[in-house]
Amino acid sequence: MPGGAGRTMSNRRGSTNRSDAWQREARNTGYRTRSAFKLKQIQERFGVIRRGDTVLDVGCHPGGWSQVAVEEVGEDGAVIGVDLKGCAPVDGCTFVVGDITDEGTQQRIRDALEGDILRVVVSDISPGLTGQYEMDQAISTDLVCSVFDFAYPLMGSGGVLVTKVFQGRGIEALISAANTRFSTVQRFSPDASRNSSSETYLVCRNRKEKPSKGTGTMSVQELVNRSLADDGFVIPAGESDERREAGRVGFRLVKSTSGDDE
Ligand SMILES: C[S@@+](CC[C@H](N)C(=O)[O-])C[C@H]1O[C@@H](n2cnc3c(N)ncnc32)[C@H](O)[C@@H]1O
Repeated sequence: MPGGAGRTMSNRRGSTNRSDAWQREARNTGYRTRSAFKLKQIQERFGVIRRGDTVLDVGCHPGGWSQVAVEEVGEDGAVIGVDLKGCAPVDGCTFVVGDITDEGTQQRIRDALEGDILRVVVSDISPGLTGQYEMDQAISTDLVCSVFDFAYPLMGSGGVLVTKVFQGRGIEALISAANTRFSTVQRFSPDASRNSSSETYLVCRNRKEKPSKGTGTMSVQELVNRSLADDGFVIPAGESDERREAGRVGFRLVKSTSGDDE
């Protein structure tokens, strides 16, 4: 097991050695990415994907998680992958190229489903990293909110949603928003995660038939934004739409100084 030797090492070299080991393992076993082992470990621990399932893989490039999903669903299942970048074909998987936050891409995913209900959504989505952790983390949280809000209506009761998140501001609010849609929400950090301190996975199981009472019709994005606003992190009035259009949603997190920015 590649993780074994490095497991107790917490320093950077230990983590790099461990990651190299998973990379070697990926090469030896035919998976396209080291990340494939993260989904395999999530699957071993929680058994999220079953035979015959219909699975959506969000942020699927280059296709490592899709390979794992196809194996797990078997011949009677179906896997749809979506990413900004195209993937080389994987037998048993339909790829959609586009931005998951874009209505056109969302429609192409609905079309690919051909009326089927999603039982599982797996998301390893990660923005292009700028190196400024707070900004990357904020953009990642926004993307994850979009994944919840897009996928939830396409899922059936009892469904499962697994997503990568970066630890930081808004995560507790995201977990609490996820709890309005799923009965159980757990954090899990697979051994194969290189950045175990910043990256973790939310495993949300047993999709509720309807969002919990008390949340009204608020989306996950709105619930998270409301909580951030309550904590003093606000969307500057009149700016959020422009920034969203410019694809710089992470800049929305501006600490309120006067308390009356909205
Ligand atoms: C860590 S990679 C996924 C690796 C994949 N799980 C695998 O094993 O092959 C994260 C992916 O998220 C994709 N991504 C980022 N923002 C996206 C968006 N708005 N819509 C769709 N995909 C996005 C990136 O293009 C990138 O390929």
